Parts: sequence; structure tokens; C-alpha cells
Amino acid sequence: MKFETPATQNPIDQMKVIGRATDRIDGPLKTTGMAPYAYERHDVASGQAYGYIVGAAIAKGRITTMDTSRAKAAPGVLTVLSTLDHDKPLPLGMMNIAHLYGGAEIAHYHQAIAFVVAETFEQARAAASLIQTEYARDKGRFDLAAAAPSAPYEPSGSGADAKDIERVGDFAAAYAAAPVTIDQRYTTPGESHAMMEPFATIAGWESEKLTIWTSNQMIAWNKGSLAKALSLKPENIRVDSPYIGGGFGGKLFLRADAVLAALGAKACGRPVKVAMQRPLMINNATHRPATIQRIQLGATKDGKLTAIHHSSTSSNLPDGKPETAIAQTKMLYAAPNREYWLKLAVTDLPEGNAMRAPGEAPGLMVLEMAMDELAEKLGMDPVELRVVNDTQVDPGDPSRPFSQRHLVECLRTGAEKFGWSRRHAKPAQVREGKWLIGMGMAVGFRDSPNTKSAARIRLEKTGRLTVETDMTDIGTGTYTIMAQTAAEMMGVPIDHVKVILGDSDFPVSAGSGGQWGANNATSGLYAACVKLREQVAQQLGFNAADAIFADGKVSAGNRSVPLADAARSGPLTGEDGIDYGDIVKKNQLSTFAGHFVEVAVDAYTGETRIRRMLAVCDAGRILNPKSARSQVIGAMVMGAGAAMMEELAVDKRFGYFVNHDLASYEVPVHADIPHQEVIFLDYPDDKSSPMKAKGIGELGLCGVGAAIANAIYNATGVRVRDYPITLDKHLEKLPAIA
Ligand code: MOS
Repeated sequence: MKFETPATQNPIDQMKVIGRATDRIDGPLKTTGMAPYAYERHDVASGQAYGYIVGAAIAKGRITTMDTSRAKAAPGVLTVLSTLDHDKPLPLGMMNIAHLYGGAEIAHYHQAIAFVVAETFEQARAAASLIQTEYARDKGRFDLAAAAPSAPYEPSGSGADAKDIERVGDFAAAYAAAPVTIDQRYTTPGESHAMMEPFATIAGWESEKLTIWTSNQMIAWNKGSLAKALSLKPENIRVDSPYIGGGFGGKLFLRADAVLAALGAKACGRPVKVAMQRPLMINNATHRPATIQRIQLGATKDGKLTAIHHSSTSSNLPDGKPETAIAQTKMLYAAPNREYWLKLAVTDLPEGNAMRAPGEAPGLMVLEMAMDELAEKLGMDPVELRVVNDTQVDPGDPSRPFSQRHLVECLRTGAEKFGWSRRHAKPAQVREGKWLIGMGMAVGFRDSPNTKSAARIRLEKTGRLTVETDMTDIGTGTYTIMAQTAAEMMGVPIDHVKVILGDSDFPVSAGSGGQWGANNATSGLYAACVKLREQVAQQLGFNAADAIFADGKVSAGNRSVPLADAARSGPLTGEDGIDYGDIVKKNQLSTFAGHFVEVAVDAYTGETRIRRMLAVCDAGRILNPKSARSQVIGAMVMGAGAAMMEELAVDKRFGYFVNHDLASYEVPVHADIPHQEVIFLDYPDDKSSPMKAKGIGELGLCGVGAAIANAIYNATGVRVRDYPITLDKHLEKLPAIA
């Protein structure tokens, strides 16, 4: 189905199942431990042996010798693979930057260099410790701040259109003429996905055919990447990933666990399972790159922005990509004069890549702090400053309107519900005993990408439906919104729908990433349901356009037939996908939020406690308010981590992230987050898809960090521009309270 013109009235608009707060259909399986994650697929292949990955002990250089003889002789060992078995790295998978395995060169710390397979996990681990590796260490580059001054521009656009600096109007002149300006430098640290479920794979071969039971967000990418890495035909690979314990972008791409499990299984002629050990996760895989950003804002005395400069420098391995922290600044506020640039330094730290809301998450932490600083300088309310600079068109190309943009309503609603009028504009004015109390707000913004997605749906003669697609549920609620979509389209209760996900033998979906999963995967299923409805109508002698599917029946005029009757002589299958035309390019499809936070800062210790958080979200039709709320509150927790604790600490001598486990990479716990509220504006967007929905999962994170930072400033009067805002950064400057 091609989506080329705005959606008109369709069966989803009935909102009998869609739009209702619905418990997760996979919830009972998960809460009883019956949903098997990759490492727990004990029944899929018999005789599973255990793998253990060895990571490089240097960050840059090469292996000179590796002695695996003692490991091979250790009890229970079936096979020991060495990276030196390959004279060069295995081919890169899609969007991998760092090689996952193979060859003597070491490009980053904890790169996989060996793999031990044994009868038990303990035997594999013990044998791994017997491998003796010698290295020739090179001097690496591990310091973003040191590399930044000489970092080259990363041009935007490509070919003849490529530009080092993107310009609209004349920034320099407008900034020089602006009566009110701010110009500040900010930093955001590297962050780790730190998902609960590690990278994990069971691999098994049947002659030339490889199956991996794994944990991955993007099944088709993973299959294609594995084919490249192992030089296999894609049709000889099956990837199965029905349950995923968090990904956040870390599981978008092929990783070493899948490659090594496949090689290990081949070598020992048995299925092999591996879960990457936690201390290897952070340096072996990808992270959100650190940034150094600068913002200059010029405004009139009544707060109209006239000039915006936003630039960001990040680093990556050779051939890597920058963190696009300027992305939202191109879209968020109207200002006639603007300039943006990115610079990319080369470092030899582990690979930087996508982590939840890449670009916008660290970009908004900075832009929205700068807006708070401007509001203070103007003597203007921070909400009003955002309102007067709202735009309904792409500020860089006014011929492109936003399909919808209710940002002002998000802000007004949020301000009212949160009690924003009680905030003191002057910081450090509100005290409760030893606590300094502050309120802050920020705007959230994230695009809602449209991407192809397919599915199939089968009607059994029992009247029950089965949905099959390679779409994934990474803890997001995909199973449930897919079942809701099928139930709404076919007119059956949700418990008549079975959803099977994550299998590469099924139609290729959008997958889970970039908050594109929900809208596109349900739209693909919508298309498949339209096909099935046509078949049902034909079988039952109805005109598909007139037939009403409701209450388990198909009706038109005064004739009504049970849906199940259509499958009496055999199951019917509808298969199709959604594909988008120009409509999603001519319109800017984005999502918006107003984030409001109240904090208390201990005047003696500098400890910050979040007291309340509110997000008001504008993200099209909300398919399931319950799972959408879960997405947003989870993202808000992630924003609290980014604002106050998460930081990959770099050892600049040896080139690795020091805090490489969950004991030392701190993330928020329940006690850190006392009260969260989410309000959805819930305006169906007819230009986004037949579902009229948009992404929500990453919007919940975007802007949260700045709202917290602004609240801390409002509490203390101390502006910390280097995230995370840990107590040591403001303790000395806190107001005397005695
Ligand atoms: Mo997201 S960083 O595209 O999983």
C-alpha cells in the first residue's frame, strides 16, 4: 500500500481497541519468567555449548602472539578461536564502524580477540583466562578536548551540495546587531546504553544453514550484516529475536556475540550460546559519543530570536560519524539568521554510534539550557520565550510546513498542570529547611521517520488471527499495539489475535529504532489487514468497500456473517506493507513535548533530588496510552540519568571507559524518581500514516536533561554547563544557608 495522500476516515478511527489503555499481551509471560530471552532458548537446539568472549587488553596496536594451547587443553573445552585465525578482519556489517573480529590489529579496547567454547560456562571462562596474548601497543588518541581544536568539519549534504557550515541569512551581522545575546560552551559526556539484557546469541548450523536466536532491534539489517561478515548467502541465514531486554540503539547492528557464536558453532559442530559478559559490554560495543557544543543566540528585547549559531564537535574511530547534536536546532525555533556546523575528530576510543534519540538527546540538553539562559537575560518567562519563537514551518525551508505542531499547547498545558506560575524567576529563592527548591522546563523535539514496513495476517477457521512480521518488541509494547491494530481492523476482540515477531522468515518490517517502530509497523499491518478484508469480503460475497467488520462479524445492508465463515475452506492470508510517497517529505513530521521538573538541592551537600516530573507530549494518535506512557516515563528516567549521573569516564592514558559495568556506570534507580506524570495531546495526524500515529519512544527523553538542569539552576543560582550535573560541580558555589 502506498501512502501518498492524507489519510481519510478508516477503520482505525473507530477507536474500539486502538487508543484504549491496554495491558501488554506479553506481560504475563514476562512477569512469570516465561518469555524466553536469547540466552534462555534452551529448547531451540539440543546440545548447546557455552561460549566466552575474550576482549583486547589494549586500545590501539596489534597482537604479536597469542598462545591458546593451555586453554585448548583445559577441562571441558571444545574449541578455542583466535582472531589470528583470520589474516584480516571479517567484512563489516551494515553500519558497523569498528570491525567485530579477525586479524591482528586492535582498533579499540575490548575488541573481541578470542572465543572459547566449552561444555559449561565456568569451563569456558576458566579456559579463557589461560590464553596468553602479547601486544605491540601504539600511542592512541583518547582525548576529545585535545583533538577538538584541529578536528575537521563534517560537511552536511553530499556531492556538490556539501557544505562545511550550513547558513541561512547572515548570522554574524544579526548576532552583532542583537540587543540581547548569549554565547556559551557546553559539554555532554559519552553515555552507555546499559540495557539490562546483554548481547546474547545461540547459533546453530544445519549443513550450510545458520540460525541465530539473538537479541537485536533490526532483524533484516542483522541478517544482511551477518551474511556479509561470514560471507554467507542471506537465504542461508535465519535470525530469530522474539523478546529483547532493552536495546536503546545498542542492538541496532550486528555485534560480536552473533559472529562468534556462529563461528564457534561451526568449529565444534554443536550449537553455541553466548552472553557477552557485562564488563565487556561497554568497551566492546558502541556508546553515545561525548560532545563539545557552542551556542550563540541573539534576540530582540521582546525575546524574538534573530540569530542562532549551534556547533558541535564529537569524535569517533576512523570512518565514523559525528553525533548530530545540531539536528533539532534546525527545526525548533524561527530565526531568520542561522548557522550550524559539526566537526568530527578521530579518536581510538570504542565506536560511537546511535543511542536513544541520537543527536537530539545531547543537542537539546544544550540548546534548551541556552534558551533558559537567554530567558533570564531577557527577564522573560522561559515558557513565553519558547512560545514567541514557535514556528509552524521548517525555519530553513518555509515552503515545508509541519504536518502538525502543537508545541505551544504542550507548553501552556504543562505550565498550568505543573503550577509553573509558582516558580520564582530569580534563582535560589525558595527553601524548605536545608533544601533549595527549583523548577525548570525545556522543550522536547524529535522527528517521526516514515519507513517501509510489511506484515502478514492469517485468518483461521476458528475466527482467530495470527500476525507475522520481523518487527521487534524491545520492551516497547509492540506485541500489544500490533494485536490492537489487527483487532480493530478485523473487528475481533484483542484476545483473538496472536502476534509472532522477530523472525527473519517473516515479512520485513521497519524494525525498532529511531522511534519509527510503532507508527510504521502498525501501518504495515494495516495494509496487510486491508488485503485480508478484501479476501474475506470476496469469500463471503460482500463488496469490500461496504463491509463492516465488527463484533466478530462481517456485515453490509441487512446481511451479517461470522468472520470465521470466510476461512471455512481454509485459512486466508493477507500480506502487504506500507510504503510512503512524497507526502512525508513535503511535510515535516515531528513530535513535540513540554518537560517540567521540580528539584530540591541539599544546600550543605549539593545532592540533587528530583521531586516531580511532567511531560506533555504531542505525537499524533496515541495507539495505546498505557504502553506509550511507559515509553515516556522510562525515557524521562533516562533523561534524569543523563542530567545527573551518566558519564563514561575515559582513561586518557590507556584509552578505555573505566566504569564498564553496572556497578560503576550509574543509572537512576526507583528511589531517584519519585513522581512522574505524562499528558498526551492525542491529535491524529492524517499526514503521517493510515494509523495517524507518530513515534513517542525517544521524544520522552528529548529535553528532559535540560529541564532538570534548568530546575537545578533555578534552585541554586549556580549554572553548570558540563553534564552530568554532579554535586562536586556546584557544591562550592551554593548559597550560604545559615
Ligand atoms: Mo534508536 S538509537 O535508533 O534504537
